[in-house]
Amino acid sequence: MLPQLSASNSKTKVKTRLIITDKITSAAIPSIPKPVLKVAQTELKNGIELSHQNNGSERFIFCSTDNFSKSSDKVESSRRLASKACRILNKYGVDSVLVSSLASDKNILVGFIEGLILSNYQFHRYKADKRKLNNSISKIFVEQKQLSNSDISKIKNLCAGVYLSRDVVNEPLSYLTAEQFSKEMVKAGKAAGFKTTVFKKNQIKKMKMGGLLSVNLGSEDPPTFNVMEWKPTKAKNKKPIVLVGKGVVYDTGGLSLKPTANSMDFMKSDMGGGAAVLGAMYAVAKNKLPIHVIGLIPATDNRPGKNAYVPGDVITISDNTTVEVLNTDAEGRLCLADALVYAKKYKPELVIDLATLTGAAARALGPNAIAGMRTCSDKQFSKLTEASFNVFERIVEFPLWEDYGEMLNSDIADVKNIGGKYAGAITAGKFLQRFTDYPWIHLDIAGSAFLHSENSYRGKGGTGVGTRLLFNFLDNY
Ligand code: BES
Ligand code: ZN
Ligand code: ZN
Repeated sequence: MLPQLSASNSKTKVKTRLIITDKITSAAIPSIPKPVLKVAQTELKNGIELSHQNNGSERFIFCSTDNFSKSSDKVESSRRLASKACRILNKYGVDSVLVSSLASDKNILVGFIEGLILSNYQFHRYKADKRKLNNSISKIFVEQKQLSNSDISKIKNLCAGVYLSRDVVNEPLSYLTAEQFSKEMVKAGKAAGFKTTVFKKNQIKKMKMGGLLSVNLGSEDPPTFNVMEWKPTKAKNKKPIVLVGKGVVYDTGGLSLKPTANSMDFMKSDMGGGAAVLGAMYAVAKNKLPIHVIGLIPATDNRPGKNAYVPGDVITISDNTTVEVLNTDAEGRLCLADALVYAKKYKPELVIDLATLTGAAARALGPNAIAGMRTCSDKQFSKLTEASFNVFERIVEFPLWEDYGEMLNSDIADVKNIGGKYAGAITAGKFLQRFTDYPWIHLDIAGSAFLHSENSYRGKGGTGVGTRLLFNFLDNY
């Protein structure tokens, strides 16, 4: 459950307090009983990270930042420490908590709150005994004056965006078809204030989006093409920033069928790029960022079926490029090609696409990083990389050298949809590049969109990766 987040005031009554502390000795913390403080001091001095006490009437957890110096990233350490604190709070059924910080760096507190909220995420929609399973934390108060109201709403709206993103990734195809995904976008748009336009199959046909339509051929469910727009009156940018997300709501591989075990089983997460774009649009609009942003999501499932596209088919993308399809499992790039072509009409300042595009990227980087490729300026890319380190969704650059593009030469069409045995993440990037004529960044999030084991505040299952990254980038734009 998404906890409520607010600043404390004189009327705030909570029985549980979290105190982030770097120098407990000098801490004159009013309202904390002396004996409690004394025990905490001793425990923290002995290297205990979380000093937990219950004096009968109140519960105190002192969270030590002592170990942060060992890590290169204090804010990330703070998020992870919060995750441990979150576990304790839920174990004891704590409902409301007051967080105070003695750390001088405000970002340590921001990271802590973020880590606490993100760690409290669960996906229990299909569980019968929700009440028993649900986390208990429902209200988080931050010590008055430690964060401004705008800091607080920023964290709140961003975390809500991440929750939204995780929810749609975790939803199986039995619920989240392309049409349902569109409904979620419309709903989020209404809640956050951005405009959503949903193009249906006949309109997609009129737009000649042969990539998206071909991938959809084997499906009983129609595709959708979704345009979300946040256009504030005082936008800083004249030309929009366009975010493109792969929205393959399920990827069986099509006729080039995937094996199920450890491969197809998790392919409900193949709209993770679209989920990131949706979550970011939500956070951007809710926080009323003064940036003109457009989100594009081509959505469909990819299935074998009576009329499914077959290996060997030649299909035509909306810019008339012909593609020889030699593997129906390389479907993401086909849908994205149509979306990247569509983005041209905005004459965008920058286009960023996010996609769970290749197993190759996942194998190269694991769940720890994002593969980035780009044609934009060094300045634009370094800004995004900076954001990626701020939020710890780290990007590492792969090259888009020309010779990689040659691996996509087709005998009978303009291009084929797969390269050779090697450099799969890069050949996928090279394929996409053909459909761009603007500054562009491609992010392959195949490794980090969905986790198979618990990982601190990122949890297990859909991570919402990309949401915080895009938001942080746009917030600092
Ligand atoms: N959705 C997959 C990529 C993927 C793999 C995402 C693992 C998340 C985890 C994509 O559509 C795909 O199947 N790619 C193929 C491309 C190949 C046929 C050129 C792949 O990576 O194997
Ligand atoms: Zn695929
Ligand atoms: Zn896919």
